[in-house]
Amino acid sequence: MLGSANIARANFIPALRSAGGNIVTLGSRSPERAASFIEANGLAAKASSYAGAIAHPLVEAVYVALPNHLHDEWAKAALRAGKAVLCEKPLGRTVEEVSDILDVAGTTTGPLWEAFAFPFHAQWSAILQIIQEQTIGELREVHSNFHFVVTDPNNIRWNSALAGGSLNDVGCYPLHLARLLFKAEPIHSKAAIVRGGGEVDAECQALIDFGSGRRLLFSCGMRRWRDTSTRLVGTAGEIRLTDPYHPGPADTLTIIAGRQSAVRRLVPDEPSFTEMLRRITASVRGSEPPRHLAAEDSLGTARALELVRRSWTVWR
Ligand SMILES: NC(=O)c1ccc[n+]([C@@H]2O[C@H](COP(=O)([O-])OP(=O)(O)OC[C@H]3O[C@@H](n4cnc5c(N)ncnc54)[C@H](OP(=O)(O)O)[C@@H]3O)[C@@H](O)[C@H]2O)c1
Repeated sequence: MLGSANIARANFIPALRSAGGNIVTLGSRSPERAASFIEANGLAAKASSYAGAIAHPLVEAVYVALPNHLHDEWAKAALRAGKAVLCEKPLGRTVEEVSDILDVAGTTTGPLWEAFAFPFHAQWSAILQIIQEQTIGELREVHSNFHFVVTDPNNIRWNSALAGGSLNDVGCYPLHLARLLFKAEPIHSKAAIVRGGGEVDAECQALIDFGSGRRLLFSCGMRRWRDTSTRLVGTAGEIRLTDPYHPGPADTLTIIAGRQSAVRRLVPDEPSFTEMLRRITASVRGSEPPRHLAAEDSLGTARALELVRRSWTVWR
C-alpha cells in the first residue's frame, strides 16, 4: 500500500482483511508516519519508501492511495515492477496521463483497476437488471449529486497542485455512472464551477449530452451536507437511489413505474469496498478472471472529465 491515507484506514484495510489479504509493507514519505499508521491500524506490515514497497518480493498487488497528482507516476512504477495495481480515482490528471498508464498496463503483466467500487456492488447488478427488463422504459436522464463537506483547509482536496477539486474527487462518479449506464460517451457539456480555497473548484454543476436524447445532470461539491441522491429517469418510470456510489445498509433503491412505487433495501450489510476487494483478491490469486479493469472504462471517464473542464464557466 502506498500512502498513510484516510481511505486506506477507513475502507481499504477492512475490506482487504475480509477478502483474506494482508498488507506486507506500507510505502510512505515518512518512516515515522508509516510506523504510527501501522500501529494505529494493527497491521503486521513493515514501513518502506514508495519504491521500496513496490519492489518488495512478497508484494503481489499495490494499492495506490496517494493524492491525484501522484497516481500516474506510482501506478506506472508498480505496473513496471510486474505487480497488479489498484489505483485510486481519478486514475490520472489528464487524458494523456490516463492513456499513458493504460499503455503501460497493456505491456506489463499485472492487471490494473481504478478504484470505483460501485460496479462490483450487488446494488449495481440490481440496477442493470431493472434497466434491462425495461421496468422504467428507455433510460433518458441521469440526475446525480455527490456532495459532502471538507472542513480541513489542508485536506488534499483543497490543493490545486495535488489535482484536488470537487470534479476530480466526486464529480468523476456521476460521469462514470452515466457512461456505464448509457453505454455511450458524452458529446457536449455545459458546466459551472465556484472556486474555493486553494483555487480548486469547490462545487461544480454540469449538463452533459450523451446523444439520442440522453442526458446527465450532475452536481458535486465539498461544502454542503453529504448528498448522493440520484435519479435514473426513463420513458416509463425511474429508479431513485439514496447512494449509488457507496451504499450502506440504510440506503434504498426505489422503483417508480407508472403509479406504482416499490422500495427495495437490497444492500448487503457490508461496506462498499468489500466486494471489490474480494473480486480483486480472487483474480490476483488466479482463481477468477479480472472484471471492471481500467482498460475498459478509465479513458472514457478521463475524456468526460476533460470535456467538463473545458466547458466550465467560473461563477462568483
Ligand atoms: N475510491 C473511493 O471511494 C475514495 C474515497 C476517498 C478518497 N479516494 C481517493 O484516495 C486518494 C487519497 O485520498 P485520502 O482522502 O485518503 O487522502 P489522504 O488521507 O490525504 O492520504 C493521502 C496520502 O498520500 C501521501 N502523500 C504523498 N504526497 C502527499 C502530499 N503532497 N500531501 C498529502 N499527502 C501526500 C500521504 O502518505 P505518506 O505521507 O505516508 O506518504 C497521505 O497520507 C485520492 O486519490 C482520493 O481521490 C477514493
